[in-house]
Amino acid sequence: MNPSVNPPGLHLRSRQAAPVGGRRPWIDHWLETVRDLQDLKDSHPMMDAVIDEIDGRMIRIGDDWLADFASCNYLGFDLDQEIIEAVPEYLRRWGTHPSWSRLLGSPALYEEIEERLTDLLGCEDTLLLPTITHIHMSVIPLLAASGTIFMDARAHKTIYDGCQVARARGAAVKRFRFEDPAHLDELLRAERDPTRLVVMDGVNSMTGNAPDIRAFAAVAREHGALLYVDDAHGFGIVGERSAQETSPYGTRGNSVIRHAGETYDNIVLVGGFSKAYSSLLAFVACPTDVKELLKVAAPPYLYSGPSPVASLATVLAGFDVNERRGDQLRATVYRHTRRILDALTSHGVLTPNRSGFPIVEVPLRDHARIAEVGRFLYDRGVYVTLAAFPLVPKHEVGFRFQLTAANTDAEVDAAIAGIQALAEMGELRLVTDDIEGPVA
Ligand SMILES: Cc1ncc(COP(=O)(O)O)c(C=O)c1O
Repeated sequence: MNPSVNPPGLHLRSRQAAPVGGRRPWIDHWLETVRDLQDLKDSHPMMDAVIDEIDGRMIRIGDDWLADFASCNYLGFDLDQEIIEAVPEYLRRWGTHPSWSRLLGSPALYEEIEERLTDLLGCEDTLLLPTITHIHMSVIPLLAASGTIFMDARAHKTIYDGCQVARARGAAVKRFRFEDPAHLDELLRAERDPTRLVVMDGVNSMTGNAPDIRAFAAVAREHGALLYVDDAHGFGIVGERSAQETSPYGTRGNSVIRHAGETYDNIVLVGGFSKAYSSLLAFVACPTDVKELLKVAAPPYLYSGPSPVASLATVLAGFDVNERRGDQLRATVYRHTRRILDALTSHGVLTPNRSGFPIVEVPLRDHARIAEVGRFLYDRGVYVTLAAFPLVPKHEVGFRFQLTAANTDAEVDAAIAGIQALAEMGELRLVTDDIEGPVA
């Protein structure tokens, strides 16, 4: 960043000249606002780690080998030999990177992915862009125009940022309570603005639960609002229900709208391939006329660099594997998740996860113990996501397991041993604890 440019919110202090050879005041200002996280990053081996090597889902950091529960490669496609072996042929045909923005030119691979994805989701049409973040920042402001956005109070940071852009372009933003369609109904009922957009997460990246899509869709439709759902974590994992399903995730991994048995009527679904499909690519599922508008009005389609060819290749190969082996892989993910959840239950430990989906948050009794608890798991060879303040409120500080089909039973055993030891040490919040603040 050019230090002569004032970062937002630092108008006065950042005008001062930077002390020669010293710290610039705007850096100190920002660091102070994220002090807990900064301290953890500087002191903890589970933060900002450099991974030196991987072997399956085991990772090496320096001399330490750990079982990785922090990746979101839910289906294990990052390590799937069939997918890995499919890539070189695509590189031979298309080179490593197309470099055109999509409006200037898209390899035919995009058309192929959009067709297969549209078919998988059972929606009218889809548009691919590099990441969900690109989509939120560009599509939310377009759909909101100068109307009113109703944002889930716990929406993912990238949705929130998209709403901030929309606000800067004239939209109003109101918040409804997390998992509370009745509150949304109340707000919409009182709203006079005819242009209404409701934005929320699908499978939640912190709690692992899905919202009641049917209830939210009904409220949005009743009040003429468009419902916009980010299912970054559900796509590839949850899908349509079927008598043949191998787990409560449903089949085909075709996302939270199909899982809920809903139609796409008045719903825009956003999802990504960077989690379950281990590929840098994302999508908007929307009507064709909206897609055609996005092609000329959404900046990432016009200006952003595209996904690398290897990612387009792993998506296409991933579709093949999903068709043939996806439900089997999802059954493995569910089995691992169930074991972790059962271990928590048997020790009376609280988790917000009610769904059995593969994101399991474990809050601590004392948020100030996060560094020690993380270190304890690290020393036992268990690598998790630390959820530190201010990433989460203090009463939700803890750690999170993400389970993938590539984890082994032995790795899950190590995680369960860690849970048991921490529960016995009294570090984990119990179902019976009377601590201020709900867990999601
Ligand atoms: C709910 C949610 N939305 C969006 C993102 C960002 O996705 P992308 O990397 O495709 O921008 C994430 C990433 O963690 C996420 O959890």
